[in-house]
Amino acid sequence: MRAILASARDRNRDLALTGCLHHESGLFFQWLEGPAPALREVLALLMRDRRHDAVQILSSGPLEHRLFRDWTMRYSDRDQMSLMDWFARSGSSTVNPGDYAGSVVSFLRMLPG
Ligand SMILES: Cc1cc2nc3c(=O)[nH]c(=O)nc-3n(C[C@H](O)[C@H](O)[C@H](O)COP(=O)(O)O)c2cc1C
Repeated sequence: MRAILASARDRNRDLALTGCLHHESGLFFQWLEGPAPALREVLALLMRDRRHDAVQILSSGPLEHRLFRDWTMRYSDRDQMSLMDWFARSGSSTVNPGDYAGSVVSFLRMLPG
C-alpha cells in the first residue's frame, strides 16, 4: 500500500488529480477527480497495473466541484470504518451500478478526513 500510495500521490499531484482510496476485503474503492486528459492517463495506467484484477468504473462524468480537493489520494481501510458493514446497516443496493456508486461516494465523503 505504501508503494501504491507514494506513486499515486506523486503523479496525481503532477496532474492536478485528487481523490481517495478505500481498501477492504481485497477490494479497492477509488474516487478520482480532475481534468479529463489526466484522468484518462491514470486510468490507462490503472488498467495495466497487474495488482488490479477486473477494474470496474461505477460512474464517470463532469463535476461542478471537487469532493476531495485537499487530497492527492486519501487512504482509508476497515480500521477507519467498514464499507461492508455500512452497506449492511444502510440497506444500500449494490445491484444498479449508479446506486452502488452513489452509496460508495456517500460512504467516502462521510469518513473523517
Ligand atoms: C488500487 C490502486 C490505486 C492506484 N491509484 C493510482 C492513482 O490514483 N494515481 C496514479 O498515478 N497511480 C495509481 N496507481 C498506480 C498505477 O496503477 C501505476 O502502477 C502507477 O501509476 C505506475 O507508475 P509508477 O511506475 O510511477 O509507479 C494505483 C494502483 C492501485 C493498485
